[in-house]
Amino acid sequence: MFKLNFNFHKKFLNNESLTNSLEKAKESLAKLLEKNGPGNDFLGWLDYDRYIDQFQIEDIKITAEKLIKISDYIIVSGIGGSYLGAKAVIEMLNGNGKIIFTGFDLSPYDLERTLNKLDNKDISLIVISKSGTTTETSISFRIIKDIIIKKYGESSIKDRIVCITDKNKGALVKFVDKYGCKKYIIPDDIGGRFSVFTPVGLLPIACAGHDIEIIRKTLKNVIPSLKKIDKENPSILYATYRNFQYKYNNKKVEYLIAYDDCFRYFIEWWKQLFGESEGKDGVGIMPSSAIFTTDLHSIGQYLQQGERLLQETIIKVSNYQKDFLIPYDKDDFDNFNTISNKSLSWIQNIAFYSTTIAHYDGNVPITIIEIDKISLELITELMIFFMFSCGISGYMLNINPFDQPGVEDYKRNMKALMGNKDLINLKEMLENTINEFF
Ligand code: PA5
Repeated sequence: MFKLNFNFHKKFLNNESLTNSLEKAKESLAKLLEKNGPGNDFLGWLDYDRYIDQFQIEDIKITAEKLIKISDYIIVSGIGGSYLGAKAVIEMLNGNGKIIFTGFDLSPYDLERTLNKLDNKDISLIVISKSGTTTETSISFRIIKDIIIKKYGESSIKDRIVCITDKNKGALVKFVDKYGCKKYIIPDDIGGRFSVFTPVGLLPIACAGHDIEIIRKTLKNVIPSLKKIDKENPSILYATYRNFQYKYNNKKVEYLIAYDDCFRYFIEWWKQLFGESEGKDGVGIMPSSAIFTTDLHSIGQYLQQGERLLQETIIKVSNYQKDFLIPYDKDDFDNFNTISNKSLSWIQNIAFYSTTIAHYDGNVPITIIEIDKISLELITELMIFFMFSCGISGYMLNINPFDQPGVEDYKRNMKALMGNKDLINLKEMLENTINEFF
C-alpha cells in the first residue's frame, strides 16, 4: 500500500479544529456505509470487492482477446466517467498502443487526426455511455459505426462493436437489441465517475493488454481497510486534512501533483472525481493539477508566491524499474559534474525535497502520498482510496457527492439549440442571447 505523510501540515494545525474535522470524517464514512446519506442509491462502488465478481472478469478477458485479434486499433468512445478511468490507467502503464479514445470532445481537428490513423487499418469499437444520450459519445459512435459498416458490412457489427451501457434504457440498448452485438451493463447504483472498476474501465484496460484479475484481487485486499471507521484509515485521514485546510485555513484550491508525466490522465480522473462530486451548492475544494518538475517552470511561480489559497497533494514514486546515470562530461561547461554518476531518480528526489520545503515555507500545506512503484495494483489502490475519500469529503461538506445537477444546465441548452421539440421556448431565449452577446 502507499504511505501518507501529513507532516507538512504541522505549522497550520489547530488541535481542536483538526479533531472536529476528524470526527466529521468518521461520521461521514459511517453515513456512507450505513447508506443513509444523500445519493445513497449510488453506492454500489463501496462494495466493489464483492460486486466485481459479477462483472464476468473471464468473459471480459475473452471479449478483449477477440477484439485484439481482429483489430489494429480498438476505438473507445466515451466521455467523463465513461472515459477518464480507463484512459488514466492505460496512459500510466503503457500509453495507448492499440487503443484510440474518441467521443471526449467536439473538435473536428481531433476527429480528423483520429480518422487519419484509421486509414487501411482493421478496427473495432467499444462504445460506453450509461445514459446512452450523451452528445459527444453519440456523434463519435455514429461516425465510427458508419466506417465499420462501410468497411466490413452490417453483419460485422456483432463482432466489431461492443456496447457498455445501462441495463434497460437508452439508445445503445435499442442498438444492441437490433444488431445483437455484445453488451456489458453499468450497474444502476454506480455513477459514471465511480465506474472505472466496472466493464467501463475493465474492458478497455484488458484490451490494452493488462491483467484485470490484478484489479479484482487488489480491491478485495484493500476495501476492508477503507471501511474501518478509525483514524488509521487513509481515506478518513486524507479527507480530514484537506477539509480542515479548506474550512479553517481558507485553502480552497487543491493541487494534485505528480513527478511523472504518466500521471497526467490519472490526475484528470481525480479532478473529475472531486470536481463533479464536491463542487455544488456554492462549496467545494477546487481541484487543480500540475506535473513537476515540468510545471515548476510555469505555474511554480504562483504556487510559491501567489494568493495563499492553495493546498497540495503530491504523489511521489519511490522506485523505478529502470534508472539512468548522469554521464561525466570532460568539459563540464555546465558545472554539473558534481552530479555525474548520480541517478536521475536521486536528482528527482532532490527536486522533490527542495520544492516541498520551499512551498511549505511559502505557506502551502502539503500531503504526500508515497507509492513504491508504478503498477496496476498501486493505481487500483489509489483510485479506490480516492473514491472513498471523495465520498467522505462530500458528506463532510454536507452535499450530495453522487449527483451532478450543474452539468445538466449546459446540456439542456445544447439540446434546445439542436432542436429538441420539448425545449422550443428555451431555444428562442437562447437565440436572443446569442444574438445579443456573440
Ligand atoms: O460522472 C458522471 O456521471 C459523468 O461524468 C458521466 O460519466 C459522463 O457525463 C458521461 O455520461 P454517460 O456515460 O451517460 O455518457
